Amino acid sequence: MKIAVLPGDGIGTEIVEQAVRVLGALDLKFEMETALVGGAAYEAHGHPLPESTLKLAKEADAVLFGAVGDWKYDKLERQFRPEQAILGLRKNLGLFANFRPAICYEQLTHASSLKPELVSGLDILIIRELTGDIYFGQPRGKRTSPDGNFPGAEEAFDTMRYTRPEIERIARVAFEAARKRSKRVTSVDKANVLETFQFWKDVVTEVHKDYPDVELDHMYVDNAAMQLVKAPKKFDVVVTGNMFGDILSDEAAMLTGSIGMLPSASLNASRQGLYEPSHGSAPDIAGKGVANPLATILSAAMMLRFSLDQEEAAQRIENAVKKVLAQGLRTPDIYSEGTTKVGTREMGDAVLAALG
Ligand code: NAD
Ligand code: IPM
Ligand code: MN
Repeated sequence: MKIAVLPGDGIGTEIVEQAVRVLGALDLKFEMETALVGGAAYEAHGHPLPESTLKLAKEADAVLFGAVGDWKYDKLERQFRPEQAILGLRKNLGLFANFRPAICYEQLTHASSLKPELVSGLDILIIRELTGDIYFGQPRGKRTSPDGNFPGAEEAFDTMRYTRPEIERIARVAFEAARKRSKRVTSVDKANVLETFQFWKDVVTEVHKDYPDVELDHMYVDNAAMQLVKAPKKFDVVVTGNMFGDILSDEAAMLTGSIGMLPSASLNASRQGLYEPSHGSAPDIAGKGVANPLATILSAAMMLRFSLDQEEAAQRIENAVKKVLAQGLRTPDIYSEGTTKVGTREMGDAVLAALG
């Protein structure tokens, strides 16, 4: 089993280090190979996703990814910006299905910004389409506006688009996932305004005919954003497009206590996957040793489950995380009164110890 380890930038290196230590403590034989990605790769090789890194990722059974990005690259031409690395990996590996499970661990009900009773027992699964939508639609760019309210003025544009097969396959992923849970799917769209998302809604409804045992409802994204903080436990599986999924999953992260708790799996048709926390490189806390490594450690558990067929090891890690939380150890992002504040490495140490 070969794992490509791509720590990236900012807190990426700090949190991936802890996940690698945890993986190394399991009695499993992996080959782990590390490569540069994002701003770090741009500095060393002049490109955020060098050919060698892409090759390593393609050949591996799974990719463990940290995060990329830093404000200092914001002025670079887009193709050289760190974020292009993760977008390029998703596109090149065909990672169209992004699972972002928002689980509020019992010990963290007081870390959430919502009332404990709203999040206690929360377990929802956001399934975000990851290789289409306005993220990848062409054309895009900047030009002199040919029409509109200000003809002749400078303008920028992107293209929101989905093809039928793209919607069909992510809808199937969602219905299949729901079959293993409470058999409910909420498809989130903006069909009242956008052609792309009327089409999305129509195709999801058609695919649903093959899954009569699963309940499907549709919700507009603005309402979904509101319902997520009003009554999050009403959701089970949420399926949506790339951009809405990006936004709603950060929102859902806060229901779990912190963005530092939200893992993710990005899978392609052959279940090869990239595993990363849902958060970014957090330049504001990078280098301080305070980042929460649990989203990354939990992403490693998802990797064992989905790509490496090691369910038992995955559960071992998840149980270790629960144990550490029960011991009252907290990085600052999930700290609440009466618990013990620890840093990134100490949190890694504690998970290692709890593995048994
Ligand atoms: P961010 O997720 O990096 O940070 C948002 C806030 O959450 C910050 O206050 C940060 O300190 C906090 N935070 C994030 N992860 C944390 C953790 N593990 N523990 C404790 N606190 C944590 O989002 P941002 O600030 O908008 O973006 C920073 C950079 O990351 C940008 O360059 C952005 O493009 C990039 N980014 C990359 C990815 C990725 O690599 N997949 C994802 C999101 C953002
Ligand atoms: C995420 C990030 C990425 C996205 C960026 C860094 C390209 O926000 O993984 O959620 O928008 O998909
Ligand atoms: Mn995001």
